[in-house]
Formats: sequence, structure tokens, C-alpha cells
Amino acid sequence: MAYDDRNFLDGLQWLWGTGFLSPGGPQAVAEILQTTDIRGQSVLDFGCGIGGIDQLLVTVYGAAKVTGVDVVPSLVDKARVDAETLGLSDRIEYQLIEPGTLTFPDQSFDVVFSKDTLIHLPDKLAICQELFRLLKCGGVFVGSDWLGGDTTATSPRVREWLDFSKLDFHFCTASELHEHLRCARFESVVLRDRNKWYRRGVREEIDRVSGANYADFAERFGEDQAATRLKSSTLKKAVVDAGELRPTSFRAVKPPQI
Ligand SMILES: C[S@@+](CC[C@H](N)C(=O)[O-])C[C@H]1O[C@@H](n2cnc3c(N)ncnc32)[C@H](O)[C@@H]1O
Repeated sequence: MAYDDRNFLDGLQWLWGTGFLSPGGPQAVAEILQTTDIRGQSVLDFGCGIGGIDQLLVTVYGAAKVTGVDVVPSLVDKARVDAETLGLSDRIEYQLIEPGTLTFPDQSFDVVFSKDTLIHLPDKLAICQELFRLLKCGGVFVGSDWLGGDTTATSPRVREWLDFSKLDFHFCTASELHEHLRCARFESVVLRDRNKWYRRGVREEIDRVSGANYADFAERFGEDQAATRLKSSTLKKAVVDAGELRPTSFRAVKPPQI
């Protein structure tokens, strides 16, 4: 995974904002949390990246405590240092995990949050079951992820984008994610397809690395990185426009009694 490459990381933040390794920034977090009040709650952020979202969860959304977990040591280190620098380390803590191992006891959290991380995991049912285990009864699993459309699995357009960008993504469709959440025993499952929103978003990404911005990007991160980023975003745009990449928000509830 390239997340431990400093240039790659800085390039993502150039596209999506400081502290964010996924599109949308604070507005995307607001969209995800629109019907979920996390004030005073203990929150697990699964796949926390460098922690920009965790800072929002405590300062804007009033979470009592956020525990961020991720599999990349340099990301967890940066998230931890940034939380300390901002004086938030009494409310945000981080844990480096091995893929597939969450060692928290059953019913540790009121809320599980996750943004654009499930795409990295091949077994969506297993992670849904594990996150269900970690939630208290009545707790909420809320987040967003990059889902595919009906043609994504077989699309040459998707293959070209993933191969060029060296991305090891594991897509599922909205109905498959819905099914996994239900199989894991979540209730009140709601999914919101954000493909239309990201059609605009991906155009903005291309603007950030083309035209007059291309030279700035190349000066900061090198000509190779600029050319790669522009081509990768352009290939992604074709995939988004074809409906084969569908960022989707979700919310699911662990029943109050099980
Ligand atoms: C697209 S980034 C999103 C990071 C953060 N949620 C954000 O939106 O800024 C995906 C994150 O998932 C993490 N990740 C990948 N595989 C994982 C796994 N098996 N368990 C936990 N995190 C994982 C990556 O290291 C990366 O930080």
C-alpha cells in the first residue's frame, strides 16, 4: 500500500485537504453524520488514516472519545502527533492494528465510524461482523465507502484505472453491502449513493492537478507524480461517469437487545 509514501500522502492531501485521505473533507463528514448524534459518545474510527476526521469528530461533533485504528504505522504516528499538537490527545487515541485483528472487547464503542476503508478489505462480511461485535447494543455503524456498480467487476475501464494507479481495491455493490450488513445482524440499514456528487468532485480533482495547477503540483511533488496523478484522476473520472465507482454513505444500527 502506498500510504507510507510521503509524496503520495501529500499528493492526496493536495487533492482532498490537510488531514484527509479521501474526498469531500468536512462536508463529506457532515453528510455521513447528518442523522447521527455522536455527542458524548465513544467512537471507533476504523481506517483512520492521518486523523483529520477524528479531530472533527471531537471538536465539531462532540464525541467524548475517539479511538482511531489503522494498519499503516506512519499514518498512525502522524495522526497521534497531530492530535497531541492540537491538545486533543486526552480525547483521541490511536492504535496500530494488523489487518483483520481488532482486539477490543465486545461492546467497546457507542459508534463505529469508517470512511473509504472497506474498499481495501476483500471480506466485507467478516469486517461487518467484527464491527458489530465491537458496538454496544443500540450502537450505530456509520460511514461511507467506494462501492462499485453492476458492471464494475468486469469493466476494462475499471481494470485500466486500477492497474495504472496500482490500486488493490475490492469493490462490492450497494446491494451486496446491504446484504453483508444484514447478515452481520445490523438493522435499519440505509445507504445513500453519492455517485452524482463525486462526478463533480472528480472534475475538481482534475482541476487541482491540471492547467495552471499542474506546474505547482509538479514543483512540489515532481513531474512524475504530477503526470501520474493527472492520468490516474482522468482514468477515474471515466469510471465515475460510467457509474462504476459509487461513493456511498451508510448507516446501520445494532439492535438494542440481541
Ligand atoms: C482512503 S484511506 C481513508 C483514511 C481516512 N478514513 C480518511 O478518510 O481520511 C483508507 C485507509 O484505510 C486503511 N486501511 C487499509 N486496510 C485496512 C485494514 N485492513 N484495517 C484498517 N485500516 C485499513 C489505510 O491504511 C488508509 O488509512
